[in-house]
Amino acid sequence: MTTDSNKVARTRVLTGITTTGTPHLGNYVGAIRPTVQASLNPATQGFYFLADYHALIKCDEPARIQRSTLEIAASWIAAGLDPERVMFYRQSDIPEIPELTWFLTCVTGKGVLNRAHAYKASVDKNNAAGNDPDADVSAGLFMYPVLMGADILMFKAHKVPVGRDQIQHIEMARDMASSFNHLYGEHLVLPEAVVEESVALLPGLDGRKMSKSYDNTIALFADAATLKKQIMGLLTDSKAPGEPKDTEGSALFQIYQAFATPEQTAAMRKAFAEGIAWGDAKQQLFAVIDAEIAPMRERYNALMADPARIEAILQAGAVKARAIATPLLRELRHAVGLRNLDSVLPAQSNASNEKPALPVFKQYREKDGKFYFKLSHANGDVLLQSRGFDNPREAGAFLAKIKAEGKAAWHALKDVSELAELAEESHVFDALEAIFQDAAAAL
Ligand code: TRP
Repeated sequence: MTTDSNKVARTRVLTGITTTGTPHLGNYVGAIRPTVQASLNPATQGFYFLADYHALIKCDEPARIQRSTLEIAASWIAAGLDPERVMFYRQSDIPEIPELTWFLTCVTGKGVLNRAHAYKASVDKNNAAGNDPDADVSAGLFMYPVLMGADILMFKAHKVPVGRDQIQHIEMARDMASSFNHLYGEHLVLPEAVVEESVALLPGLDGRKMSKSYDNTIALFADAATLKKQIMGLLTDSKAPGEPKDTEGSALFQIYQAFATPEQTAAMRKAFAEGIAWGDAKQQLFAVIDAEIAPMRERYNALMADPARIEAILQAGAVKARAIATPLLRELRHAVGLRNLDSVLPAQSNASNEKPALPVFKQYREKDGKFYFKLSHANGDVLLQSRGFDNPREAGAFLAKIKAEGKAAWHALKDVSELAELAEESHVFDALEAIFQDAAAAL
């Protein structure tokens, strides 16, 4: 029995990217680059997925969805996301997600969804135009927060990095998890939104926020000549060469800063004060961007030329992701009562007097001759795994301790065992308490 330090519970960070467009420089600076950086943190486990079911809500062009899925996957990998290290998968490869969506639909108030921003914005627009409030609103748009909740809860994510506009959806996912847990027992983890304040919002070619809807984007992986041409077209004021220029409010300066070192930024600030010509400043801007992007562009082009490779990466990602999703969904199906009929029915299946199944404390001997114990949830999920003891009594003493002390036994247990990969300390506490209560009741 080896105790692998990778098995210690890591913080699970999850985010989805809707597959409707081609990544631009704003997506790179605002999402791709910081996420790839964060994915290298060994204390976290990253879950990054292509949200193609979400794409269907706003896009009815099949070719565009396929193309965008390929481009986004290639972009993330080219930018350094390592599919070996993180979970990288396509939402529609995980059939457990739509099934969980239904379970959550059944514990979500319709009134809660009425208040979701995206839906409300459509209703407000219709009302203002004197239309039926639900004109052109699909049920998909209405249900969007539930699908998003399933994305998050499926993998027991702790942290979800999102833009401000998405915070409400994370709050809703928390509410869905707690309603579900309240009705059916502690199965789901309540996620938290993380809003990165320090990440730059990149201005676009016209100085407004870079966004597809303003048609002011700079393509991320266009060839160098196109990139240069787009940068030359960046809007500036009409100050002549030699006239001092303002860095404040300059889109050119802001974009430069997002790619330059602090020293380069300081030098550009000085050049602005000294009246650098806009053409020269744009040349320098092109140079810093291209220096960072060129190696990725090469990888991107190679990936785009080999879609079978991306498909294989996503298929492998789906296998890894489903190794988590399938057992959890099995547990949830059982929890809600979608059960195999030949499993024993509890006597009088009246939820209020049904005694919850107890966690299991199991002692056993391994081939190495040592004695171990394992604490599992009633559904069989392992919570704690001990190290080996020379003597069976040493291992057994921990059960006695749990029966006598409940949660308070955690201090001692912690020193001789490890949390299972997907277990939470709070699950262990619940299990210890349940064994304690049961022992007390038997006295
Ligand atoms: N709705 C998100 C967006 O438009 C994308 C998304 C889908 C997502 N599912 C998610 C983000 C789950 C975080 C977690 O940006």
